[in-house]
Amino acid sequence: MVKVKINGKTIKVEKKSTIIEVADSNDIEIPRFCYHKKLSIAANCRMCLVEVKNFPKPLPACATYVSEGMEIFTKSKQTKACQQDVMEFLLINHPLDCPICDQGGECDLQDTAMSFGSPKSRYTEEKRVVLNKNLGPLVSTDLNRCIQCSRCVRFLQEVGGMQELGLIGRGEHAEISAYVEKSVESEISGNIIDLCPVGALTSKPFRYSARTWEMARKSTISPHDSLGSNIEAHVKDGNVMRILPKENEDINECWISDRDRFSYLGVNHDSRIKKPLVKQGNVLKEIDWEDALQIIESKLHPIRNNFKEDDIAFFGSDQLTLEEGFLLKKISEHFSSNQVNYNPKIHVNYVSNPHLNIKINEIESFDSVILIGSNLRDENPLILQRLRKMTLNNKKIDLIHYEDQDLQLQLDHKLIKPIEKIEKSILEILEIALDHKKAKKNQTTESGLAEKLKTQNVLILIGQDFVSRESILGYGEMLNQLVKKSSTSIGFLPTGANSVGLNQIFNDKNDVDNKSYKASITFNHEPEHDSIDEDLHKEIIKKSSFNILISAYQTKQDKSYDLILPSCSHFENEGSFVNLENKLQTFTQVIPPKHESKPLWKILRVLGNYVECDNFNYESCTAVKKDAVKGLLSNKNNNLELINKQSKNNNKIFKFSINNSDPMVRRSKALQDIEHLRSTR
Ligand code: SF4
Ligand code: FES
Repeated sequence: MVKVKINGKTIKVEKKSTIIEVADSNDIEIPRFCYHKKLSIAANCRMCLVEVKNFPKPLPACATYVSEGMEIFTKSKQTKACQQDVMEFLLINHPLDCPICDQGGECDLQDTAMSFGSPKSRYTEEKRVVLNKNLGPLVSTDLNRCIQCSRCVRFLQEVGGMQELGLIGRGEHAEISAYVEKSVESEISGNIIDLCPVGALTSKPFRYSARTWEMARKSTISPHDSLGSNIEAHVKDGNVMRILPKENEDINECWISDRDRFSYLGVNHDSRIKKPLVKQGNVLKEIDWEDALQIIESKLHPIRNNFKEDDIAFFGSDQLTLEEGFLLKKISEHFSSNQVNYNPKIHVNYVSNPHLNIKINEIESFDSVILIGSNLRDENPLILQRLRKMTLNNKKIDLIHYEDQDLQLQLDHKLIKPIEKIEKSILEILEIALDHKKAKKNQTTESGLAEKLKTQNVLILIGQDFVSRESILGYGEMLNQLVKKSSTSIGFLPTGANSVGLNQIFNDKNDVDNKSYKASITFNHEPEHDSIDEDLHKEIIKKSSFNILISAYQTKQDKSYDLILPSCSHFENEGSFVNLENKLQTFTQVIPPKHESKPLWKILRVLGNYVECDNFNYESCTAVKKDAVKGLLSNKNNNLELINKQSKNNNKIFKFSINNSDPMVRRSKALQDIEHLRSTR
């Protein structure tokens, strides 16, 4: 610790702090543009200049480390003069087009000019002009407004892992450019919109649609991956206008993925189901809710009154909330049905309650991470950015997979083989690490990884594919031994927003037999995209006597169902998700339901009443949650509990793709446009 004086006040601070960090932690305002706490220091805007005693010139607060006895003045005459001069320089070429700029009202440049600038401009010469660049369907450019702070460049390189933007030219001619006029394609590129301190980079889909002061800000949780990013929906006239990250250092830090940011564009898609639909002949006819519920009663009541086990099959989705999962479980029990597939992306779990086993923010505390069988760029891009951050701190990342992955980071070891061979390699690595087997004389990747497991503090992260492959039963016990013997930890990477919560509600039982049922109910997913076994779903629907779909969107298979009920999209719904670190996060409704759709928990609650389920008179989602959380497990520590069971079809692997992960994402035009661009390169 060192003692410094800031504006006459003596404070004790960490030796390795910069002046700007000291000021921020003591609520002392220093204006800045290029500095960002998550990026490297560029010190190129000079907005943070401050007077420091015994230094002949003012110093940039973002790039100057404190030292014993330093005296800093953030409000002195010299500091104020510097701030005014820098502001004047920055505004020389700025177009001052605030009335037509999307950033107006939330612009750092505007705010800083008002607080620290001069009220008059002395510049009467012509301003320079910079041509805009097409960065793709997500980010819009107005480069006349750019102040060359380089935050966007540093973000894409350091956090996104791709050098997609650069600063070309010098002085008056410096400008931001994409390489060879290419669009920006990182999965987290939208964060440059938030980082840009001026209106040079704005959201293309949001452009000119609302002013910041016209929108209400509502907090919610992203439903697209198991991280559970905290987000803020900005709402106007009952519509989500844009999504921004809500800072949560323990989960998503201050970032979100492009999928989280732009999926809202699917809410008002033409394929939204407007009213309940009933099949008459080969056409679907709109009916009232009352009539739809009576049809359900007339079909399901006789099944219940004269039931055998497993008369009904239920096909859920990994986006079902905890409350919806809990009500679904109760309904299935009422019908004595074990036929529930709550996560159609996998066949079975061979590990009980697979989750991260540690806190998300503990990942970076390990020396090394071995990533097994997970395509993080598609499945969980913000966990991947944490791994990238580790490599910047000289930590090592290894990849073991059955297909090559470009993770946009420097890998230490990469072991890519067909799936059966890779499973043998995992076995060999563990055998060498546990001294059950001697390493081959010539150094192989397997022996290198085994050596690492013996000597370092390693986190093994296992993707969802490997949890649903029977081979984990062969090496699972060895993983447990390794944890006991070394400082290795093991975590799993489930993919769905509520995979962890649903596994606990349903006790990891995720089976539907291929037979004919008296009825089937499918919830909120499209088997042709979201299911590992589309054919099984199709066959069951064909063989079953009465099929219900409860969904926000019409699907290609609509005509296979006898009755379709419109449910709410995520932003119209309320409930809770359990994220990959086993953290329960509850969200409320952000916008009113569209058309005649209803929240799924309410539909299930009414359905349960119609078929006379016991103890089903829940009056609110909160009341359901109160009962649902009783079934949740506390965070287990590092012990892998294997489930021995017969698999019905263990050979298929689910192909996960970031912009095809759920029905809402598939209906976001901007996300589909960027997907199209990526696939045509
Ligand atoms: S585009 Fe924005 S973030 Fe990028 S350098 Fe210019 S002002 Fe900074
Ligand atoms: S914020 Fe310090 S130089 Fe830009």
